[in-house]
Amino acid sequence: MRLVLVGPPGAGKGTQAEFIAAQLSVPKISTGDIFRANVAGETPLGLEAKRYMDAGELVPDEVTINMVAGRLAESDATDGFLLDGFPRTVPQAQSLDKLLADMGTQLDLVLELVVDDDEVIRRLSGRRTCRGCGKTWHLEFDPTTVDGVCDRCGGELYQRDDDKAETVQNRLREYADKTAPLVGFYSAQGKLAGIDATGPVEDVTQRALDVLRSYD
Ligand code: AP5
Ligand code: ZN
Repeated sequence: MRLVLVGPPGAGKGTQAEFIAAQLSVPKISTGDIFRANVAGETPLGLEAKRYMDAGELVPDEVTINMVAGRLAESDATDGFLLDGFPRTVPQAQSLDKLLADMGTQLDLVLELVVDDDEVIRRLSGRRTCRGCGKTWHLEFDPTTVDGVCDRCGGELYQRDDDKAETVQNRLREYADKTAPLVGFYSAQGKLAGIDATGPVEDVTQRALDVLRSYD
């Protein structure tokens, strides 16, 4: 299955992507994770992406599209994938359609995770990310984070630079201006399904899997 997860910052895309990709046995491709790995490795791509990420702005389309094209060309993505955080603009969506058409395929479904701004702010202000395995935790919702250590791999937990309050406001503005139009874009293609992404993580996963089953 070829699936896209779309939703505002903090909607739970990364959290749900992990479970859904495992359930579907497809690779999870997260542009945010790829950019963060490049920032940590101080690669030229990372150095370019960092100034946009730190400001809560989107990395330019051309840079992002080239990166995803390279990743999709890898053999494990040809039979299916779950894209987390891409596309995020209409030009990115148009490029993705073209890339897939060139590969002789197309998207099956775009799943929109729906949450309001207050919940986004609550989730991002308490988010902690593991330096070891990249898993996200939450100070309020995951009591095991109190010791600052990842419950899965023992890695150190840190707060993402772009989770500071003023940067979160910019990310929400970028989402409203540039990403929200994708809802109309994919609705017009008959590929959009929205789910309520509030409530316990397992309930959201169940709602997502129910939708995916109905498209099988
Ligand atoms: P990216 O990493 O994609 O950030 P984002 O879209 O803002 O999404 P987040 O990672 O913040 O949130 P999420 O929806 O994955 O939520 P999570 O599961 O962590 O991108 C970062 C930056 O990279 C962008 O700003 C941009 O600069 C650049 N970039 C990336 N892709 C790009 C593109 N295509 N084009 C241009 N630039 C791009 O959950 C959040 C928190 O809530 C966690 O603490 C989690 O534990 C908790 N949580 C999750 N679900 C629940 C629940 N049901 N109940 C309670 N808590 C929950
Ligand atoms: Zn870890």
